[in-house]
Amino acid sequence: MNFKVPRGTQDILPDASWKWQRIEKIARSICDVYNYKEIRTPIFEQTELFQRTVGDTTDIVQKEMYTFTDRGDRSMTLRPEGTAPVVRSFVENKMFGYADQPVKLYYTGPMFRYERQQAGRYRQFVQFGVEAIGSDDPAIDAEVIELAMTIYKRSGLSDVKLVLNSLGDKESRTAHRDALVAHFSPNIEEFCSDCQNRLEKNPLRILDCKVDREHPLMKAAPSLADFLNEESSAYFEKVKHYLDLAGIEYEYDPNLVRGLDYYNHTAFEIMSTSKGFGAITTLCGGGRYNGLTEEIGGPAAPGIGFALSIERLLLALEAEDKAWTDEPSLDVYLVTLGDQARAKGFELLGKLRENGLRSEMDYMNRKIKAQMKSADRLQANYVVVIGEEEVLENVVQLKDMTAGQQKKVSIDELFDELK
Ligand code: HAM
Repeated sequence: MNFKVPRGTQDILPDASWKWQRIEKIARSICDVYNYKEIRTPIFEQTELFQRTVGDTTDIVQKEMYTFTDRGDRSMTLRPEGTAPVVRSFVENKMFGYADQPVKLYYTGPMFRYERQQAGRYRQFVQFGVEAIGSDDPAIDAEVIELAMTIYKRSGLSDVKLVLNSLGDKESRTAHRDALVAHFSPNIEEFCSDCQNRLEKNPLRILDCKVDREHPLMKAAPSLADFLNEESSAYFEKVKHYLDLAGIEYEYDPNLVRGLDYYNHTAFEIMSTSKGFGAITTLCGGGRYNGLTEEIGGPAAPGIGFALSIERLLLALEAEDKAWTDEPSLDVYLVTLGDQARAKGFELLGKLRENGLRSEMDYMNRKIKAQMKSADRLQANYVVVIGEEEVLENVVQLKDMTAGQQKKVSIDELFDELK
């Protein structure tokens, strides 16, 4: 029997894993500068957590969750996203009581959604996300967006655009909801059964429907923008003002609705504008979620955050022809000749590594020529050659591979030379 990686998942092989590590390193260091601290939550949670927060009528909850019953007969779900778990932990651990508010958190790890596999869409994918919980200052909205944009910039991407919308507060959303019900009700039997169900429960989700996308009533649907009350509009204006101050360009899109129910006010996505990028252009999504802590039994703590997928960031780099090729190279490759030299080399290898030098030697009993070839393949900056003569003299031949020069140095001097 041949085993294969499950559909929609992938192995990150050793020739690519360094890229993942590098993105994480970039993103972590940016979070550090913005004073966000890492949080790690479990891979699975109670199913109800996602039903409550992401929303019963969303595609994620209705069609995409990996839900299972554990041996204690509890319904559990592999996390499809990171915000609900983080907010659950915020409430459970009473982070609302921390002296420093807002609480600024980041996380990275695999998320699971049973989606149709296509380029850039996986069933297991890795998100890097940020949540700032406890403040409704529009400046923090801008900070979170700026942080996301900085991750792309620092990764080397340039063909990205920020798309922004306001979903308004509860009052604005209720007014819009009523208008949607009035708009779709008379002809709802022309829509799919999902949409018919959504009419009462969550008419906004009708606008996401992939089946009835072309129905004329879709385009003519009342826009949320026309229902924003004064407070919501004022909030949105302030967010935009702060983005202007940060020098961040954005495109206003009144039709931007997110696929999760917990959002209000600021909603945004960052898209790749690169021509080479596939059909799915969203790299990152986020927004504000005031009221989410109360939804899961905590006190009020307004929040905002985003999540990006590392897979899509790497695909976007490729599409822009900026795929990283500068895999970290080896500092030193040790070439040895004969048993004594090998023993000496093995000792030296430990010392090189102790000094933080990325070093390697041959474990395949290869001839000197083949060892040199390995050193080349691994792009070693230096090759240290030890033969029988060198053992007797307590020296090594040090070859600088960039300069192409070779010289004899004593073992004691070697570390100074390598510095
Ligand atoms: P989301 O829009 O569902 O939001 O996902 C965020 C990002 O995750 C997407 O923009 C996309 O890059 C990536 N993503 C989603 N599904 C897939 C998939 N099947 N394959 C590859 N990448 C995918 C959230 O998850 C929210 N929790 C974001 C957030 C944080 N909002 C506030 N705080």
